[in-house]
Amino acid sequence: MAVRQTMGWIFGGLLAAQGLAVPAQADEAAMAAAGRAVFQKCEACHALDPSKNAFGPSLHGVIGREAASLPRFQYSEALSNSGLVWTEENLRKWIADNDGLVPGTRMRHVSITDPAEQDYLIAFLRTLTP
Ligand code: HEC
Repeated sequence: MAVRQTMGWIFGGLLAAQGLAVPAQADEAAMAAAGRAVFQKCEACHALDPSKNAFGPSLHGVIGREAASLPRFQYSEALSNSGLVWTEENLRKWIADNDGLVPGTRMRHVSITDPAEQDYLIAFLRTLTP
């Protein structure tokens, strides 16, 4: 049941990506579900469990958070000194080219440059409240 529902959301997200109308409310859920699928590229290093830092720091509540601000994670100097706040705009730059935004970061290069995929991922990150 849950799986079928998720599949429905993903399918909705695909329809939205093709510019077909979906009702506004379903939209955000569909976007987040599509973003959950994109997050597979991140979850090897970023745990979904908010109490856990894996190889990368927890991303719960990351939107609006200061970069490198989780107390129990050993960040690179580069990220610690970046002075960035994770606004949606900075997150887009980060997932498009993280080592371009913060040279010297310890996070392996990711390159999600498709604006639709970025939208989905950000919609998903927005659902991860601390
Ligand atoms: C190979 C492991 C790995 C992958 C894959 C990865 N990350 Fe990271 N991520 C890290 C590490 C390590 C850091 C800490 C970087 C530093 O200290 O310079 C980090 C840091 C971050 C931060 C900054 C968090 C903070 O507290 O300042 C964000 C945001 C982030 N990653 C998002 C993502 C997203 C979104 C993806 C998927 C598209 C992703 N990461 C994929 C390892 C990874």
